Amino acid sequence: MTKDHKTLYDTEHISCDYAARDYMDPAEKTFIEEFGKKLADMDMLDMGVGGGRTTKYFAPLVKSYMGADYAASMISACQKKHGDRYKFIECDARNMDEIADNCFDFILFSYNGIDSFGNDDRMRALAEIRRVLRPGGIFFFSSHNLNWDGLYGLFSLGTKEGSYFSLKKPGKLLNLLKLRYLNKSFSMKRHIKKLRKKRAGHIYDNSLNGKAGIYYITAKEQIKQLHDAGFNIISTYSRSGIKTNDEEILNSGGWIYYLCS
Ligand SMILES: C[S@@+](CC[C@H](N)C(=O)[O-])C[C@H]1O[C@@H](n2cnc3c(N)ncnc32)[C@H](O)[C@@H]1O
Repeated sequence: MTKDHKTLYDTEHISCDYAARDYMDPAEKTFIEEFGKKLADMDMLDMGVGGGRTTKYFAPLVKSYMGADYAASMISACQKKHGDRYKFIECDARNMDEIADNCFDFILFSYNGIDSFGNDDRMRALAEIRRVLRPGGIFFFSSHNLNWDGLYGLFSLGTKEGSYFSLKKPGKLLNLLKLRYLNKSFSMKRHIKKLRKKRAGHIYDNSLNGKAGIYYITAKEQIKQLHDAGFNIISTYSRSGIKTNDEEILNSGGWIYYLCS
């Protein structure tokens, strides 16, 4: 029933879905407002570019732009969407042999692409990102928030805010039972509490049609992980785009954005 993330992303169905996305995330907006003209001096790598949602917002602002993704169908979707105006390459964040050291001033890994990995792969990707980033360069990414207030709501029958489902939708109960089975826990509350004690772990939350687990991590643990990988944290941003380190605000959203150097 479950599949690896790359197989799931590398399908026409999923890449077409991502290519159709055109919005900008609030934190991406805040980031662009904050950096403004400084971006014009930056060589940018848009890692895990997906269907090129972020290309139209970032590429015209930076000195040079390259989109990368390990899924060939995502790269084809980007080329179809943006033509040959920008460079897109097939490349795995965990092993960027195609890219020399110190090539970029700014690396983006948007929309939780980094949450496809477990711990070891995540540390490998962070080491690779650090290698291709120039000294003083910046890395901006988002990750699923294990301390999100709405996390229990994803697995409850109620119609609470944060629930992905509605009671009226057929199959909801079946879906919730499937997620309990995949998470190997009858009580999702207990499961989430257990993961929170460990500060990170995988949750089947219906992303990628519930076929793959998604890595969730607390902000404190993510910051520790970044320090261990040799990054300095500059700031964190809430799901709604507020630059803050206030835990209450950060935990009101399902993702947290991290800016580091
Ligand atoms: C949730 S999608 C986000 C796509 C896009 N960044 C956006 O914001 O719409 C995550 C993307 O990361 C890519 N990805 C995941 N793991 C990767 C890896 N190890 N190397 C390169 N790309 C990866 C997936 O193929 C997918 O396109």
